[in-house]
Amino acid sequence: MATRNIIIDTDPGQDDAVAILLALASPELNVLGITAVAGNVPLSLTQKNARIVCELAGFPETKVFAGCEAPMSRTLVTAEHVHGKTGLDGPQLDAPTMPLQDQHAVDWIIETCRAAPAQSITLCPLGPLTNIATALTRAPDIKDAIQEIVLMGGAYFEVGNITPAAEFNIYVDPEAAKIVFEAGVSLTAMPLDVTHKALTTQSRVDAFRNMGTKVGDMTAAWTDFFERFDKEKYGSAGAPLHDPTVIAYLIKPDLFTGRHINVEIETQSELTLGMTVADWWGVTDRTPNCMFMGDLDADGFFALLAERLATLG
Ligand code: BDR
Ligand code: CA
Repeated sequence: MATRNIIIDTDPGQDDAVAILLALASPELNVLGITAVAGNVPLSLTQKNARIVCELAGFPETKVFAGCEAPMSRTLVTAEHVHGKTGLDGPQLDAPTMPLQDQHAVDWIIETCRAAPAQSITLCPLGPLTNIATALTRAPDIKDAIQEIVLMGGAYFEVGNITPAAEFNIYVDPEAAKIVFEAGVSLTAMPLDVTHKALTTQSRVDAFRNMGTKVGDMTAAWTDFFERFDKEKYGSAGAPLHDPTVIAYLIKPDLFTGRHINVEIETQSELTLGMTVADWWGVTDRTPNCMFMGDLDADGFFALLAERLATLG
């Protein structure tokens, strides 16, 4: 089977954790490394959480790197109100024993891309885009190696979750997002419009719990924790499982539909900072720069998750 080489850039986060599990469980994907960034919680926790998840999955040999601890030009905004104090609140796992790599995540991304054949690496950002934008700014030549960037971020119809106008990952580092969206690299985004349809209903969470494995139990317990905030906020049957949509797209792109459109990032206005201004209706002549997803087959998505996570211990 031809495998796709990916780098997961992440700020775990319970939904990031499920995305990492899905990637490690999927033979179509070769996880070259995981780069942690500050986002849901500070970097000291996201790099630790990434290692906790790799050990849980039974992949302690995965290379995990720590990257940027603050946005490119702003103070870090975190989301403990959603993910808890550790970022992975819910059931606690032991501190990881696998090592954190010494190299800075941005240096490793640059080095890895420079050593790779053209169009051979897919970047999967699941948090603020600080690491990716810093790498692209320092070494624009790495674009040659990038096959595609598939990220979770933004919103059009759903507008915002951290402010009325902005989605969290883009809002935290809008300057970084602007660099990525303007990089001229093939780009696919999973905005809230998609992820708010990927809801962890009771039967979907039961499917994880009924696996009878540690991974199944942890996934159910993490989603239970993560749910409490969104269920209250949206009055929905479950919480959106945002970040695994990125990985699911790499495995089964047919689960998703969207439009190739122009998306610009607001970096100036205090009121709408971090807004993804998506020309969904094609009302401008601005050049399309992003495959902006709008819908998914939610049952197919959760079936894929259950099938793959069941293969982990
Ligand atoms: C995004 O923000 C984080 O809280 C989640 O992990 C996801 O990446 C959703 O807005
Ligand atoms: Ca995330």
